[in-house]
Amino acid sequence: MDAHGLGLVECTLIDPRETWPLRQAVLRPHETEDEMDWAGDALATTFHVGALAGGLVVAIGSAYKEARPGRHDAHAYRLRGMATSPEARGTGVGGALLRHVLDACRERGATELWCNARETASGFYVRFAFETLEGPFELPGTGPHFLMRHLFDR
Ligand SMILES: CC(C)(COP(=O)(O)OP(=O)(O)OC[C@H]1O[C@@H](n2cnc3c(N)ncnc32)[C@H](O)[C@@H]1OP(=O)(O)O)[C@@H](O)C(=O)NCCC(=O)NCCS
Repeated sequence: MDAHGLGLVECTLIDPRETWPLRQAVLRPHETEDEMDWAGDALATTFHVGALAGGLVVAIGSAYKEARPGRHDAHAYRLRGMATSPEARGTGVGGALLRHVLDACRERGATELWCNARETASGFYVRFAFETLEGPFELPGTGPHFLMRHLFDR
């Protein structure tokens, strides 16, 4: 796809380390890049998607095979670390990346993709058929969130 001046944008699986710069800059500016190595990142059931434009990673998102808190769904996936670089926002790149994550979850037989969505981003997820299950609740360091999920047809 060509996202408004970004040139050709390709969504593809990336190495966990490739998510670190955007994770830190966009989502955790109060932490260091070394702290971006999150639990479960290296598991075989986890996958990381990057949107690449001109060789640069301009958006990221990671999916972990993990049930919602208090649930035991062995086929649920959790979305974390969804971010678009400030320069690339509003061009459709985050949406393209999320569609790629949703397709990859569906291919893996996922029942649902859930996330703790920042209140400021919840409208973004609504556009991709996520529903709100709980919230708002406060998460340390990152403000108010909603528990949201996209349910897959089975
Ligand atoms: C949320 C975020 C990932 C969206 O990425 P993006 O590349 O700007 O999104 P897109 O341009 O692909 O937008 C896709 C659609 O969602 C809408 N949208 C984007 N951000 C939105 C927001 N915060 N609230 C409501 N709608 C939003 C767009 O208007 C667009 O709608 P359209 O298809 O009707 O035109 C990006 O703004 C971001 O990185 N924000 C800071 C970090 C963050 O909050 N991440 C989420 C943590 S839970």
